Amino acid sequence: MSKQEVILCTKLETSLARAIEKCQHDKLFILTDEHTSRLCMPVLRQTNYLKEAVEITIGAGDVHKTLESLAAVWQVLSSQGATRHSLLINIGGGMVTDLGGFAAATFKRGITYINIPTTLLAMVDASVGGKTGINFNGLKNEVGVFAPAASVLIETEFLRSLNAENFISGYAEMLKHGLISNTEHWAELLNFNTQAIDYDHLKQLVGQSVQIKEEIVMQDPFEHGIRKALNLGHTAGHAIESLALAENRPLLHGYAVAWGIVCELYLSHIKVGFPKDKMRQTIQFIQENYGVFAFDCKQYDQLYALMQHDKKNTAGAINFTLLEDIGVIRINQTADKETIFEMFDFYRECMGV
Ligand code: GLY
Repeated sequence: MSKQEVILCTKLETSLARAIEKCQHDKLFILTDEHTSRLCMPVLRQTNYLKEAVEITIGAGDVHKTLESLAAVWQVLSSQGATRHSLLINIGGGMVTDLGGFAAATFKRGITYINIPTTLLAMVDASVGGKTGINFNGLKNEVGVFAPAASVLIETEFLRSLNAENFISGYAEMLKHGLISNTEHWAELLNFNTQAIDYDHLKQLVGQSVQIKEEIVMQDPFEHGIRKALNLGHTAGHAIESLALAENRPLLHGYAVAWGIVCELYLSHIKVGFPKDKMRQTIQFIQENYGVFAFDCKQYDQLYALMQHDKKNTAGAINFTLLEDIGVIRINQTADKETIFEMFDFYRECMGV
């Protein structure tokens, strides 16, 4: 997989002009959702490069990350004369960058695309690393391909208008990057004031976070080994997210990841000796910033069954990424049913459920 260029922008218009110049193309398309079309396009349209671009707008939110939306994108590309030398620019959160990346990767067997993430989650995770796809058959990201953007342009000014829930959701992936990298970055993240955000400091933390992800993706772009580090918190987190969806109390992804981190730090502690004090400090931060998702012991079987369906598993064993310490990663760890139920007991006890 080719390396993608990730740019922490000083001025988006300048970085975008450079990124477009680097991608020889005949026709330019822009994918937005109904929010980014309204909020971002009026300003971006004023730049010379985007004046002639064809805009494609899809519905906002994960419910629109569907085959129907994907087909609608292909339809416009096809009817508006896109060729293999056309360029697609995705502007939006992870839903837009994932779906747009997949549309680009598959149209005429692949056209070049650029990502401009507008949410924190998309900046530090979804738009970087080449994972693209859609939800299918009731399963998240069930169909997709690895196909990196030519450039990812990160403009943290967008974060000023992000609501508190989406901010803290994206911050969970940053916290994960702190845990899998080094103590200094992890401590800085725990000490950051999430209620009164210092945006200059946030920009610097976002830059570090993206760099941590990029370094891992560079070593293992197709997730055969070390890229699994990025799945910390996601085995339990995805089960919580799916349970919430089934019970009609949907969550933002990062909240589920944060609660998944609580579960998996416990597993890390009992199975590979993750230090108790660092586990407690991280859990306290999560309690204060994410609250709690309540479930009772009657739901353990359902959570366990959801974990068994996780696409990260091999040969029936539930696969976890655990930590011996901050930055000391142990991939391909498994746990039996009894231990997983103990993990849920721990979650409920320490979160006060
Ligand atoms: N979101 C995890 C990854 O990109 O591998």
